[in-house]
Amino acid sequence: MIQFADRMTEILNHGALNLAMAIGYKHRIFDALEELNKPVTVSEIASASGLHPRYLQEWLGIMVTGQIIEFLKDQKGDETYFLPPEHASFLTRKGGSMNMGVYTQEIPLLSACAMDSVNHAFRTGAGVPFSRYPDFQGFMAELADAKHQQVLIDLFLPTVDKGQLCTRLSQGIQVCDLGCGHGVALHLMAKAFPKSSFVGIDNHEEAITQAAAAAKEDGIANAVFLVQDAADIDGRSEFYSRFDYICAFDAIHDQSHPLEVLKGIRHMLAPGGMFSMIEIKAKSSQADNMDHPMGPFLYTVSLMHCLPVGLNNNGTGLGMMWGQEKAEALLREAGFEHIEITEMEHDPFNLHYLCRAPLKEDGAFNEDF
Ligand SMILES: C[S@@+](CC[C@H](N)C(=O)[O-])C[C@H]1O[C@@H](n2cnc3c(N)ncnc32)[C@H](O)[C@@H]1O
Repeated sequence: MIQFADRMTEILNHGALNLAMAIGYKHRIFDALEELNKPVTVSEIASASGLHPRYLQEWLGIMVTGQIIEFLKDQKGDETYFLPPEHASFLTRKGGSMNMGVYTQEIPLLSACAMDSVNHAFRTGAGVPFSRYPDFQGFMAELADAKHQQVLIDLFLPTVDKGQLCTRLSQGIQVCDLGCGHGVALHLMAKAFPKSSFVGIDNHEEAITQAAAAAKEDGIANAVFLVQDAADIDGRSEFYSRFDYICAFDAIHDQSHPLEVLKGIRHMLAPGGMFSMIEIKAKSSQADNMDHPMGPFLYTVSLMHCLPVGLNNNGTGLGMMWGQEKAEALLREAGFEHIEITEMEHDPFNLHYLCRAPLKEDGAFNEDF
């Protein structure tokens, strides 16, 4: 009984800390403290961040009692605050793929966007349209930046097909990023492999407009972006057998009609082509996720976003934690016979499902596999 009271105390404190850290992240206070790199007073933090000292002081109260920032008195007896470098590397934008600070924004942002809609849908079972999440695509782009910048070209792509994908990308192939959002991954790939051609597909018009504008600004000539519902691709001749490599980062579980989307991907793959599906590493049964280190966080993101958007248009509503068994079954149902599932050293929270299309019409695969 008392033990559970302690746990409740911990939960309330951690929920509050997440919210306060999201405010700190947004205002770049952690970045400012990392730059200062020494114990500093509230007024020094106010000068460095451009924020109001009274609000900062209250916020620092949360950070020091939450043991995120250290509280010290200097020789003059002035109260100072210090962000230890080992904390800063997980909290600042410089942290790249180690940056967990960016994730503190996720639950507060989803609550602001969709709390009322999700509460309502809890009773009706309806979906919540994507338009209810106006700031979420921007956040996804920020997340994609943290996820892909240091990882995609140097760590992820070289693992695909034992390095052979990178060789083919250097020589020039046709690539599609499905559910590309703001096009962060596509942008990086198009720059790294100028002889290949890239198509970004997403049904979110605003995200595609921004992706195309960013590519134009960066002088990228080998990438185009399409506003297209991925569930409406299968069977269309203009997409048939068009791509040698298709990737979908964190995008399949959000689909209302994921089977149709996967069938569309199979339809778009050229003979011998490959499809990389990156999805959260989880099991399909909740019972098998008891030890998941981020179970409550990921199920909450799913409850607030992935599930409701996946239920739109009489959707399947997979949810982010649909898990390996369901993922493999759906890929097979969509026509993928050859699926390799691998963990990724650089990304312990996701799994890579590499699916291959047969080399020949008769269904034969390359003798290597
Ligand atoms: C979680 S975001 C992932 C974005 C990006 N791939 C990344 O790694 O950051 C999922 C993306 O799938 C897109 N999406 C959802 N349903 C779609 C559909 N039916 N057709 C095309 N794109 C869709 C969303 O607009 C969103 O950009």
